[in-house]
Amino acid sequence: MTLWSGRVGNEPAPEVWEFLHADDAELLPYDVQGTLLHAERLQASGLLDDAELAEVRDKLATLDSVDPAAEDVHSFIEAELGEVGRKIHAGRSRNDQVATAFRLYVQDACAEANAALVAFAAAILSHAGIEAETPLPGYTHLQRAQPVTLGYHLLAWAEMLERDRARFRFAAQQAEPSPLGAGALAGSTLPLPAPAGAMRNSLDAVADRDFALDYLYAAAVLFTHLSRIGEELVLWSSKEFAFAKLPEHAATGSSMMPQKLNPDVAELARGKAGSAIGRLTGLLATVKGLPLSYNRDLQEDKPPIFAARRDVRGALAALTVLVEGLEFERARMAAACADPLLLATDAAEALVKEGVPFRDAHERVAASVRDGTFAAPEAGNRLGDVGAAVAAAKERWGC
Ligand code: ARG
Repeated sequence: MTLWSGRVGNEPAPEVWEFLHADDAELLPYDVQGTLLHAERLQASGLLDDAELAEVRDKLATLDSVDPAAEDVHSFIEAELGEVGRKIHAGRSRNDQVATAFRLYVQDACAEANAALVAFAAAILSHAGIEAETPLPGYTHLQRAQPVTLGYHLLAWAEMLERDRARFRFAAQQAEPSPLGAGALAGSTLPLPAPAGAMRNSLDAVADRDFALDYLYAAAVLFTHLSRIGEELVLWSSKEFAFAKLPEHAATGSSMMPQKLNPDVAELARGKAGSAIGRLTGLLATVKGLPLSYNRDLQEDKPPIFAARRDVRGALAALTVLVEGLEFERARMAAACADPLLLATDAAEALVKEGVPFRDAHERVAASVRDGTFAAPEAGNRLGDVGAAVAAAKERWGC
């Protein structure tokens, strides 16, 4: 029995049923929450009495899994409510229902991402504080460029993550307005109170998936950052760099080569950036060109979000463990920094301080590098107070 069997007369063909089925069991707690909000509206306008509202509340509280034979989570919930369920759909449609549940889901996913980001940033910043003054070559073009410190480099990672946190916060804000009351597309004639934060336009309320795109964008950018951090972890843990040792509980071995210790976690985080970007472009393509308001195409919005949430959670948790256990090879980093040529720019700047135009200074230092007479100047301070910068970052992250 479908929610719409009154119209079609007979049951859909099994092939059709199977095709229409939504894999949306993950929405259950959020649709329960949205259904309760709607039931409260019905009760406020006298369409459910207090006993019926209590019954809805009690029955909703018992739901912990979805019958896979149901068309979707919404039809499942209505069926599970039994007799009182026959009243629950007054003034709502699955269109505002799914948008409501999905928005609650995305808000939760954003909060979860931000909590995981705080844990990851805390692991990074804890090393950054200890390694504030540890010399590390800074690179451009993957060529040694100028000396930095490990703490300063780790602060750069934390900066990327801080912007990610802002993007997840933005997505959560975008998901806040409530589509409840929009009904199928044009509201309802029933005198139901507007929910808190009701959306202004009912057509937009059931058609809008920008908040989901915002989440996927935040996840895609986060994964581009994790891929860059992952790549540096791969490089640093290689014998060629040997700047860091992976903790064994966050490394893998080889099924064939007994000596190997592999950075699979960092690589997989790097690899998952591809899937994260694909999910964003996939949903953009789904939404593109859809006429207002709701179309069943929009059922395709959920699998990419479910998968993105899983990956965000999984990657951040595993990388946090890995970074917490990193051991840095300070002697290797210092040796890599020892090349006096890393101070060539400082030498040119010393000449500038004496009044030499920068281009002339650059040419003079370059000539001394070419003919082997280059002499390194005293290393000046280019990076400011790294320890203070770490403390400020910890303050912003609350860790
Ligand atoms: N499972 C559907 C979805 O995820 C729910 C909405 C169905 N609405 C409809 N008018 N057929 O989008």
